[in-house]
Amino acid sequence: MSDQVRDAVVRTQVGIVGAGPAGLTLAQLLARRGIESVIVENRSREYVEARIRAGVLEQGSVDVLTEAGVGGRLAREGLRHDGIYLQWPEERHQLNFPALCGRSVWIYGQTEVVKDLIAARLADGQELFFEVADTAVHDVESERPSITFADAGGAARRVECDVVVGADGFHGVSRDVLQSQLAESRRRTWQRDYPFAWLGILADVAPSTDELIYAWHPNGFALNSMRSPTVTRLYLQVDPAERLEDWSDDRIWDELGTRLGVPGWTLQTGPVTDRSITPMRSFVSTPMRHGRLFLAGDAAHIVPPTGAKGLNLALLDVTLLATALEAFFTDKREDLLDSYSDDALAQVWRRTHFSWWMTTMLHAHGDDFDHQLQIAQLRYVTSSEAAATSLAENYTGMPLPPER
Ligand code: FAD
Ligand code: DHB
Repeated sequence: MSDQVRDAVVRTQVGIVGAGPAGLTLAQLLARRGIESVIVENRSREYVEARIRAGVLEQGSVDVLTEAGVGGRLAREGLRHDGIYLQWPEERHQLNFPALCGRSVWIYGQTEVVKDLIAARLADGQELFFEVADTAVHDVESERPSITFADAGGAARRVECDVVVGADGFHGVSRDVLQSQLAESRRRTWQRDYPFAWLGILADVAPSTDELIYAWHPNGFALNSMRSPTVTRLYLQVDPAERLEDWSDDRIWDELGTRLGVPGWTLQTGPVTDRSITPMRSFVSTPMRHGRLFLAGDAAHIVPPTGAKGLNLALLDVTLLATALEAFFTDKREDLLDSYSDDALAQVWRRTHFSWWMTTMLHAHGDDFDHQLQIAQLRYVTSSEAAATSLAENYTGMPLPPER
């Protein structure tokens, strides 16, 4: 073998495709257990650190990130929220999570989670290739799967490993590799495309609210969230065909003011620093494992953002996977790897249902009859302790009860 070819081959235990929250957290959890990994990511470090997405962490996610060694800044800068407001015209009601289910959630942006994880990875001196091209996954039915890619300089590389984890998001390559190896009878996908999208903005202005406001309005849903005491995050339900160019700052603020307004309360406005439109869909792909290839996070499932579950679910997957891989590498046990797909999917479907339910309750759709049903549901959730507790348990990510 020539020196050049030998240099191009890296040997590791776990090859990870994707440096999003799933791939990066898994790598840190494995490192803590003495298991080596290599991550390949097709975007630049700057790009993945700036990609504005989720903002709400369940307590379980905070615990996992702390275990992964990145809990420091999160503990200092994260904002604990003990509830949310649910709103419809003229009425705003608070749900108090600790009172209902003994748990809270934390506000800390996905950008910050990713920055902390990348810094920890690089500080440990562990391999993380950014700006790769042509990622491909091979031989997943063998005990020596591999990942090939062109590195940032264009050189061909191969990562030889015991296990490959596809944590490459909804548009990655891993899910297709897994599905293509299975007979039609052994694979399945489910998808629901919703007839709405979210127009999201980030603004340099102190939040006008102490807790998130989820507002139903006949013009469409609106959400008042935040990232810090000086940065506000806001969303508007829009048609998926809507174009960002048609939404001036004034139009966005006017519409937010209308949908979020209640008597005696004013939405503070400020400079908009980021804007985007995101379509909404539910998607589940099964199984989440074939041979030595495992899927985690958005590579296997997508939820609409209304329940704030996407990021939290990605962290749940890799928590299960880290435990299963530890049993495999340290005790040669394969039982947890074998049950990974079913274990993860139980969590996935619970959150898929919750996200669909929140989306259906809060987004204006259908006719006047549908609107009356939605308001009846909102009144029920904010007045019945049983209904409010159910929402609180799901929103804060209470562990699932054991199956009977
Ligand atoms: P990702 O974050 O998608 O990470 C996958 C990584 O793999 C990316 O860095 C990608 O560049 C890389 N990759 C892809 N293909 C390849 C390849 N071929 N080779 C190498 N690397 C590859 N959730 C919420 O809870 N609230 C929100 O407000 C919210 N907003 C969102 C807005 C948008 C636009 C999107 C797309 C998602 C949003 N989500 C939200 C969902 C949440 O952000 C995701 O669930 C979360 O990012 C999942 O993490 P992940 O690591 O599984 O996937
Ligand atoms: C945010 C996003 C969500 O989907 C949500 O339900 C709550 C907050 C956010 O980006 O802040």
